Amino acid sequence: MLPFQLISPSIANQQRLRQIYISNYGILYQGDCLKLLSVLPDASVDLVFADPPFNIGKQYGEGVSDRMEAEKYLIWSQEWLSESIRVLKSGGSLFVFNLPKWCIEYGAYLNRQGMLFRHWIACRMPKAFPRGRKMSPAHYGLLYYTKGEPTVFNKIYTPIQVCRHCGGEIRDYGGHRKKLNEKGINLMDVWDGPEDVWEDASAADSDEVLWTLAEEMWTDIPPVRHRCHKKRIPNELAPIMLERIIAMASNPGHLVVDPFGGAGTTFYAAEKLQRYWIGSEIGDTEPALERLTNLANGHMEHWESARGKKKSKPQPNKLDASQLSLPFSTQ
Ligand SMILES: C[S@@+](CC[C@H](N)C(=O)[O-])C[C@H]1O[C@@H](n2cnc3c(N)ncnc32)[C@H](O)[C@@H]1O
Repeated sequence: MLPFQLISPSIANQQRLRQIYISNYGILYQGDCLKLLSVLPDASVDLVFADPPFNIGKQYGEGVSDRMEAEKYLIWSQEWLSESIRVLKSGGSLFVFNLPKWCIEYGAYLNRQGMLFRHWIACRMPKAFPRGRKMSPAHYGLLYYTKGEPTVFNKIYTPIQVCRHCGGEIRDYGGHRKKLNEKGINLMDVWDGPEDVWEDASAADSDEVLWTLAEEMWTDIPPVRHRCHKKRIPNELAPIMLERIIAMASNPGHLVVDPFGGAGTTFYAAEKLQRYWIGSEIGDTEPALERLTNLANGHMEHWESARGKKKSKPQPNKLDASQLSLPFSTQ
């Protein structure tokens, strides 16, 4: 039995979870996340990533409500948060992506459940306009909790950001600058993580890329507005975000669960990074299915830049997901 085969076909049937896709690494069900979570064993999962509907009236398709009374939304959120905690192994990680308004409630609930707060990561959002007497919203919250002390925390190194016009460094690193890393030349003398992960810097046009440990402010996640053929997937996330989360909080062979699969970004990233995965999506599973099938046929997605658009580049030969090159190198 593979690590993602935790649910027998008869139990899945009883829960009305329809198997949509299966690979050597994972399984996607169409159905309600609460049904999926309820049949996963206690302490069986290494990492849960949840990107629920934000309750702002988005259209996710027939039968999916994104407009509930606030109280009802929070009660429902507590249900899937509690189940996520239950299925996590001791030391496992939970990431939840939402508006700050909901994250603050989620954080309070997770604290009460005894989860260990690690970070509130601010993910820069595209320009939004203020509504009423408010400032312009500028970030989404990405909560990072663990069930006790984390079993895995891999240090992620990202290329430092430079100005697109003049090539100058955007941030002032002050006295810390000389401690930044040139890839391949180890300027830091302490390496205490089990694995140090260097993100793909292929987009960087400078010869000398300097690296820094990932911070709590993620400004380099590109928004996903359109697919190549302009079919809009509401709230699809960029793979770099999931690759970063998965690389940071799990190791190859670990099990990742995403209850709100959407267009399958988490499953795509998990396949690339050789993690096992289980997912559910209550609405349309066609975009996730198409994406995973493309990946299995050797089509890797390429992103031009933080403002670029997604492109699919066919590979010369069909590859098994396990043969795909990782977007990271390890030191
Ligand atoms: C914000 S989107 C997730 C997007 C996803 N992270 C991606 O990158 O494509 C939320 C998704 O949760 C789905 N959803 C809503 N309620 C659900 C439920 N009870 N069980 C499973 N999926 C649900 C919606 O249909 C929607 O696709």
